[in-house]
Amino acid sequence: MCGIIGYIGNKPANDVIFDGLTRLEYRGYDSAGIAVIDEGAIHVRKDIGKLRNIRRLLVDDFASSSSIGIGHTRWATHGRPSAFNAHPHGDCISSIMVAHNGIIENFMKLKKRLSDEGHEFKSETDSEVLAHLIESNYRGDFRQAVLDALKHVEGAYAIAVIHQKHPDEIVCIRKESPLIVGLGIEENFVASDVTAILQYTRQVVYLDNFEGAVVRRDGISFFNITGASVEKKAVQVDWNPVAAEKGGFSHFMLKEIFEQPQVIRNTIGGRTSEEEGKIYLEELKLTGPDIYRTQRIVIVACGTAYYAGCVGKYLIEKLVQIPVECDLASEFRYRSPLVDANTLVIAISQSGETADTLAAVKEAKSRKAKVLGIVNAKESSLTREVDGLVYIHAGPEIGVASTKAYIAMLTALTLLALMLGKIRSVLNSEFVKEKIKELKILPQQIERVLEKHDQIRELASIYKHARSFLYLGRGFNYPTALEGALKLKEISYIHAEAYAAGEMKHGPIALIDDQMPVMAIVTQSDVYDKTLSNLKEVQARSGCLIAIVTEGDSEIRHMTDHVIELPAVSDILSPIINVIPLQLFAYFVADLRGLDVDQPRNLAKSVTVE
Ligand code: F6R
Repeated sequence: MCGIIGYIGNKPANDVIFDGLTRLEYRGYDSAGIAVIDEGAIHVRKDIGKLRNIRRLLVDDFASSSSIGIGHTRWATHGRPSAFNAHPHGDCISSIMVAHNGIIENFMKLKKRLSDEGHEFKSETDSEVLAHLIESNYRGDFRQAVLDALKHVEGAYAIAVIHQKHPDEIVCIRKESPLIVGLGIEENFVASDVTAILQYTRQVVYLDNFEGAVVRRDGISFFNITGASVEKKAVQVDWNPVAAEKGGFSHFMLKEIFEQPQVIRNTIGGRTSEEEGKIYLEELKLTGPDIYRTQRIVIVACGTAYYAGCVGKYLIEKLVQIPVECDLASEFRYRSPLVDANTLVIAISQSGETADTLAAVKEAKSRKAKVLGIVNAKESSLTREVDGLVYIHAGPEIGVASTKAYIAMLTALTLLALMLGKIRSVLNSEFVKEKIKELKILPQQIERVLEKHDQIRELASIYKHARSFLYLGRGFNYPTALEGALKLKEISYIHAEAYAAGEMKHGPIALIDDQMPVMAIVTQSDVYDKTLSNLKEVQARSGCLIAIVTEGDSEIRHMTDHVIELPAVSDILSPIINVIPLQLFAYFVADLRGLDVDQPRNLAKSVTVE
């Protein structure tokens, strides 16, 4: 969603800010803007469209020697995408500029009051009220004006503010929306996301809720919402800036698909002992009694992370023998869920900033459940809310459509299920040893699947004009079908629906004809024969069938139009490998249709609003 970057230092501010904004592009946006202080005046440039199209406005024609400024990429919530609604937003006399992420819930009331007092608004946004509120609270002390303004505000915010009369400082503060401060040498940064500043510094301070900073060239002072000073420690971000580059691939999504073997190695790294059949998840912080007391597990997540959770349900029920429910975070939070101190809630999130997932965690905690986070982004908001953690170590995921984080979530869930199953004596050491061994060879097996990219591209060229797709899977691979369909629809804009194969005859079979391609996951498993029977029903109705099968499966060949063969793996690991051809297929279809694969329309990487 929206992105913020602020810079103060010794370089041309609009270059650094524009560069930071391009690194935030992946979050999704429809407009962008930059404001700098130059020779005692504030200059603002903003417009709708992609950064590459408005670069001239923001940088080339914006000759400025300024070395302080803020920038923003906006993903419209209040007010349509337009130059007026783009950030930064100013006060009546453009002496203050604010870049804001989040939502000001009481903005209508505030706007009315400020308008009655004579403030003139230029946009339809909620964010603009912040600039006017700061203006009306300004008595010469910039930081205090921001703090006083926020006393009137309900909602979520991460803001970076500059003031014409204070050309040597950026004031920033957050509540619920993430914000970080980056430490350089004679230069410092503010950003909503580390990827914006990774190329300049890896020394980062993560602000907590209600914390802010006055950021100067030569130092930073941290404070909380009451104005009291707070001590903050910088941490060294271990994400490599190169990981946030395309590295020769045409899109981040393709690069991230190809990174998946290494991601699995990283997720497993140092967490297993093959000799002893043991799994170590250090940040888990669940005690033996916590694990024995657990009578039920509830997984909450959104989107792709939710589908990872659905695989988690199959894994945990099979390996730990505890009932598991997997719920959409947006549903869980509003349905008075039945969780208590004997329920373990697992929240899964790549970004750790998804508003619905965070709210679901708060709901679970208010009901005394223990909450475990399976998270990618270090120090994200979710990591601060949970009792224990399993980091998935996928590295920065830039493509809006999640791929490598999904694979890492599945790997982490497998480790977790094996560990819990062993502790609860459902699994013996031999079984765990065997699965660790299989997990370790999985990356090589996935490399073999990635080598089939030309075959999958060819298939994509045949089906790129399809109007609709049906994805079918059963058991562990029903969620794989759901995830495959999601990938196709979000980046290629082709309607795709997924069904549990056995459910097809209860309705969706009516859709089958020679115009409806069916993507079926039918690798060897306990439900292979059952799935095959379901596919015969498709074949009998002239449906065109693409089947994801296990290498050497000769039975299925004569009944399908196309097969993609995958190396044989055990049932519990099959979702990790089976989704790879589906990711590639979606990627190639979107690319062949000439679409913006990394930033699909209407989508945002990290959904920080409800
Ligand atoms: C789909 C996708 C989204 C996210 C969802 C949750 O490709 O990326 O569906 O999975 O918005 O995001 P996180 O995992 O950051 O909570």
